[in-house]
Amino acid sequence: MKSKILGLFRSTQDIISGEILSTALGISRVSVWKHIQKLQECGYQIEATPRGYQLLSSPDTPFPWEFPQREGLIHYFPEVSSTMDIAKEMARKGASHFSVVIAGRQTSGRGRLRRTWYSDDGGLYFTLILRPNIPLQWCFRVNFAASLALCRTVRRLTGLNAAVKWPNDILVDGKKLSGMLSEMEAEAEMVSFVTVGIGINVNNDPTEYEPTACSLRQLLGKPVSRKEILARFLDELQTYFDEAEDNLEKTIAEWKEITCTLGRRVSVMTPLETSTGLALDIDSTGALILELPDGSHKKVLYGDCMIQE
Ligand code: BTN
Repeated sequence: MKSKILGLFRSTQDIISGEILSTALGISRVSVWKHIQKLQECGYQIEATPRGYQLLSSPDTPFPWEFPQREGLIHYFPEVSSTMDIAKEMARKGASHFSVVIAGRQTSGRGRLRRTWYSDDGGLYFTLILRPNIPLQWCFRVNFAASLALCRTVRRLTGLNAAVKWPNDILVDGKKLSGMLSEMEAEAEMVSFVTVGIGINVNNDPTEYEPTACSLRQLLGKPVSRKEILARFLDELQTYFDEAEDNLEKTIAEWKEITCTLGRRVSVMTPLETSTGLALDIDSTGALILELPDGSHKKVLYGDCMIQE
């Protein structure tokens, strides 16, 4: 009902009478008033005048009804510990492919390599539940598809020259805009589900905790709609799961066109070692191939990649 009411408001600039709303929605005028009150409680500025109602502004909160095509799959919470934990619990209970758990803020947001992901108000924090019908060894393709889709979304929406840093960070001018953490569960060599957690610095200021990070609002000098980023990202990513096209298979090749890692001198740190060399290529398993100073090649499977110079 909320998405229908908002749809009617957004189709016109005018005031809409309670009578027209009640006829269009097939509910009583008292019910219309109750729904309007609920929307107002959620932060929608709706003016009630003797002639009817008018939507003056909407909050930039990714409520499920703001995604009419996906409403049943979107789960929004003002605050959680980590969307990763909620999503994993939901996936284990059978949540559908492309379910999304979003949080306004996280009290225990986590990043790769056991780091903390600070999750203040204004950022976009969500975990996507995916059920790709693929064997375990192809699971990495999902992460490449997600970072590729996000990088394209940021480029198209903002015009910024965003690039992907291996494995899945999105950078703008060398500063981190977004990070991705992915976890999965498998059964009999097939992937049961993957939870892809994404944190994007949108209207928050991440520099307090991460001096080398940036947010879209800082880069563009104005707030950016989190709802729009999420909607566009989900649409973009969906195309990689179109089985007829088998697009997941093409992700590595496409990812290579949008990365800032290849051809650069990098250091990749893991808890065990640091490898420094020229980032030559990404192989068909998603591993980074480094050319070491002695000319030999080294395959790096995971780690924190830092671009030198
Ligand atoms: C990284 O760059 O280290 C990955 C950061 C991933 C952060 C996101 S925010 C939404 C989801 N919930 C979490 O606790 N982490 C991921």
